[in-house]
Amino acid sequence: MSSFEIRPSQRLLSLPPYLFVEIDKEKRLAKKLGRDIIDLGIGDPDQPTPEFIIEAFKQAVDDSENHHYALDSGLYSLREQIARWYEERFKIKLNPVDEIYPLIGSKEGLAHLPLGLINPGDKVLIPDPAYPAYRAAANFAGAKIEVMPLLEKNNFLPDLRRIPRAKLAFFNYPNNPTAVVADKSFYKGLISVAIRNSMIVAADFAYSELYYDNQQPASFLQIDGAKEVGVEFHSLSKTYNMTGWRIGWVCGNKDVINILARLKSNIDSGVFQAIQVAAIVALNNVISFPAQMRRLYQERRDIFVNGLKEIGWDLRTPAATFYIWAPIPTKETSIKFAKRVLDQADIVCTPGVGFGKYGEGYVRFALTVPKERLTEAVRRIKKII
Ligand SMILES: Cc1ncc(COP(=O)(O)O)c(C=O)c1O
Repeated sequence: MSSFEIRPSQRLLSLPPYLFVEIDKEKRLAKKLGRDIIDLGIGDPDQPTPEFIIEAFKQAVDDSENHHYALDSGLYSLREQIARWYEERFKIKLNPVDEIYPLIGSKEGLAHLPLGLINPGDKVLIPDPAYPAYRAAANFAGAKIEVMPLLEKNNFLPDLRRIPRAKLAFFNYPNNPTAVVADKSFYKGLISVAIRNSMIVAADFAYSELYYDNQQPASFLQIDGAKEVGVEFHSLSKTYNMTGWRIGWVCGNKDVINILARLKSNIDSGVFQAIQVAAIVALNNVISFPAQMRRLYQERRDIFVNGLKEIGWDLRTPAATFYIWAPIPTKETSIKFAKRVLDQADIVCTPGVGFGKYGEGYVRFALTVPKERLTEAVRRIKKII
């Protein structure tokens, strides 16, 4: 037995409390008891990584050249492939020498960025509701955090007229959790603000390929001036069902990339080279595999959203991502409602308040189960709302 108390650091204690403890506990218990739980809580594709990527990985693992420490900046051939992918997808030219840098998943890069850029007390803007990693990262760097509320009346975009001065700001479209996209005019306005305020933009584009109705979301980097003020984060996780592989990249402003690279060289040693080889093969498939996934999610979206609308739930049809951001149809808080959905319908959803205080009043469903289960979920929800 240890004779002294082991306590976490102040920076860890300063993170917001984890709000889903009770729901998580109940979910685990319900599964243990054999209840037929439909889990729409998890943002992790249920589909496997496609065979052509696994095959490329298997061959790369057999090659002992790939067993060493990887170069921090990754294989040049990977950065060239990312540049080709970008050009084909967005008609943007990126220099593989210094405008692209591989990451151990985009979360890793997003989370390390403030440590490289921010001095204690510098201001960082984060959206609310948002993917929780931005707040945690800014917190760890000792930033003064200010939130940009994402309100339904503004189509869940931050109000650019009210953006305070800050050193760094995070944006995420297609957005988790609200499932909206930003268009080029939003990014144009954002870049003007960023230039005026000398504010670095971190655009999280993890869901770039997961859009509906053939409406491709714009890249922040497609707008003139973007490369002067910011970077865009990408991920292979959702596009190619590779969440567990841990690979993504950052691209855009070379000074920001260089700072992140310097920080990371003190922390990690790059991405396992066999995974980089598999990523090259994945990214060579620009069109057909991502299109196949979009068809699958669009079918699920239509079944679930139309089903909920038919039973009287007034919600928006998502434009992108595999999430549904649904206003709670009763007077309950998001935690109370999510708990009741689990208790009475055996369905897991995520309370909106877990994404920030402006997420209160909503719950998030993830379309990461087969369509039959979504039909069943609608049937069960009908009985309890
Ligand atoms: C908005 C957003 N950004 C980034 C990530 C992290 O993805 P990765 O697997 O590339 O770290 C996620 C994962 O859910 C996400 O929702």
